[in-house]
Amino acid sequence: MELAGKHLVLGLTGGIACYKIAELTRRLIKGGATVQIMMTEAATQFITPVTMQALSGRPVYVSQWDSRMPNNMPHIDLSREADVIVIAPASTDFMAKLAHGMCDNLLSTLCIARDCPLLVVPAMNRQMWQNPATQRNVTQLRADGVEVLGPDSGSQACGEVGDGRMIETAAAFEAICAFFQPKILRGQRVLITAGPTFEPLDPVRGITNRSSGKMGFALARAAAQAGADVHLVAGPVALKTPWGVYREDVQTAQQMHDVVMQVTPDTDIFIAVAAVADWRVDHVSEHKIKKTGDGSLPTFSFIENPDILATVAKLANPPYCVGFAAESWDLDVHGEEKRKRKNVPLLIGNLGPLTFGHDDNEVVLFEASGVTPVPRADKRDLARTLIAEIAKRAPKTGGPLLS
Ligand code: C5P
Repeated sequence: MELAGKHLVLGLTGGIACYKIAELTRRLIKGGATVQIMMTEAATQFITPVTMQALSGRPVYVSQWDSRMPNNMPHIDLSREADVIVIAPASTDFMAKLAHGMCDNLLSTLCIARDCPLLVVPAMNRQMWQNPATQRNVTQLRADGVEVLGPDSGSQACGEVGDGRMIETAAAFEAICAFFQPKILRGQRVLITAGPTFEPLDPVRGITNRSSGKMGFALARAAAQAGADVHLVAGPVALKTPWGVYREDVQTAQQMHDVVMQVTPDTDIFIAVAAVADWRVDHVSEHKIKKTGDGSLPTFSFIENPDILATVAKLANPPYCVGFAAESWDLDVHGEEKRKRKNVPLLIGNLGPLTFGHDDNEVVLFEASGVTPVPRADKRDLARTLIAEIAKRAPKTGGPLLS
């Protein structure tokens, strides 16, 4: 559970987006976090403390004068346990209070008295968001070290369309998970290929493979959570884009190659996870190939696809290159042989057909200095471990934020 042992104060302020916080609370609790709900009076007009107490499993605090705290100092005691305070939804008024250091209710007093980081998730009408006063307050909050998540653009509860709606619950959850990850790749530009490719035979048929894309997507998520600027080039997969990741979809190996070659000059680390088809048919039929009826079978001739990883690794000034190898037998021999042949400093080997589509994986790192096994783990946890291993090895070529 990725939030195991984390203690969050989740503060609700007055806005219709309060309904999303019921779902967010459930996700956070499922992720292993302890969630202390605090609400402003206005928030209780949109969702009840009873609902939030039932979902969080803890008493909800609204009033500064709540006598349930033995020392009557909820604004101090409740923040001291917290690893982070998240204000969601953050109303226009509450952000103004934060920006000006006002503390006229329990939640704003808690924020002023905190000794932990603060995340705010704004939600408001587009005009309220665009108002120069709100924009000044947001700038001030950022300057004060407060992380502002969103808002999104789109249709609003008031019927208008524009900037200001709260980011989706799933995105808020992802951003909170990311907050807890060490920023070991801050400033690094990471390019990742993931999933299978699809090589057409005719307009309706083609050749593909059983790669689900889960490992590549998990690595993209872990790299983004580690602070990297991530460009994900995905073959045909049914997976959601990880939060904070820029995704480009392709079908064929040639398309994947072309995108990768275009992005590589602006890349510090290239992680080739895609199961790229080795061959494609040299002539794709313009029309659907028909059964002849006389028992004769179609024949296809193939040509080799470009090896994307080997091509990048061969460049005069390549990014730090990481390959993956899915082998069904004798991984020890084939892994190191493949690493040398592709000329990459690090190759991650797994028993491919056994892990394709699964949620967990067990891998071995091959590099010039030797072999390191990495124990079986859920692909999300494994991705974090692998990103940490890659970060240790890749040259620190990132932006000015790197120390
Ligand atoms: O040769 P093999 O396909 O086993 O090599 C696997 C590694 O090479 C993976 O990192 C894969 O993404 C990459 N690869 C590639 N282009 C190809 C074939 C494989 O980038 N045409």
